[in-house]
Amino acid sequence: MRVGILGSGLMGGKLGTIWARAGHEVVFSYSHSDRKLAKLAREAGHSATPGTPAEAAQCDAILLAVHWSQVNDVLKRAGNLSGKVMISCSLPMNRSDTALVIAHTRSGAEALAAKLRKARVVSAFSTVPSEVLFGVYAARRRKLKPSLVYCGDDARAKRVAALLIRAAGFDPVDAGPLRIARFTEPFTLLIAQLAYERKGGPELAYRFERLRHGALPR
Ligand SMILES: NC(=O)c1ccc[n+]([C@@H]2O[C@H](COP(=O)([O-])OP(=O)(O)OC[C@H]3O[C@@H](n4cnc5c(N)ncnc54)[C@H](OP(=O)(O)O)[C@@H]3O)[C@@H](O)[C@H]2O)c1
Repeated sequence: MRVGILGSGLMGGKLGTIWARAGHEVVFSYSHSDRKLAKLAREAGHSATPGTPAEAAQCDAILLAVHWSQVNDVLKRAGNLSGKVMISCSLPMNRSDTALVIAHTRSGAEALAAKLRKARVVSAFSTVPSEVLFGVYAARRRKLKPSLVYCGDDARAKRVAALLIRAAGFDPVDAGPLRIARFTEPFTLLIAQLAYERKGGPELAYRFERLRHGALPR
């Protein structure tokens, strides 16, 4: 698959690197520094290239990984996104990253889908800190994987998202339609609290267990 990265920072840089190493073609875009994009692509391997947001937007799947305040700018530079699978890890945070600016009755993912009426938006990856991504990928062959919730309204786009979630070493958990991002986005603030404010460090992932016949799976 060809994956375009809109926002090549902590999340986009790492996820793009992981997908390139997993064998996907990756276009890194949207940084203040073209040299940084070139270095990311070089280090990610031969299937990665640096590009513009418009080039990233030509890919089969696109990861949106920018601060909420930059969403309009990057989308404008990306151009036409009709029909595109748009996976967003961007959270609707204020400029100081202290609070959600959209919550309770709507989610950032729904606000994004309203901007991109013809794109197929999936909310995924926002519920884990960037610091855990390489570790999870390194442990991808283990049987017990961390969970990763995702949600969206388009079945095909969700299949693409699930494939990329698996490629990154997580167990995809389909949480339902896009409006469920109203729950997953605030959940991320809990994850951030545990990762950055409590002991143990930010290399934190989570795992949901469903009991079968009253017992945990062996
Ligand atoms: N970091 C996490 O652990 C984490 C976890 C879950 C969700 N999220 C969410 O994921 C999204 C991305 O977070 P992040 O931590 O990856 O952010 P980040 O490290 O700041 O990356 C953002 C990227 O956008 C680029 N950018 C910003 N303004 C730009 C401009 N005017 N022109 C060109 N490029 C510009 C940055 O350029 P430079 O390369 O020059 O910096 C960087 O590559 C956010 O919405 C955040 O809330 C983050």
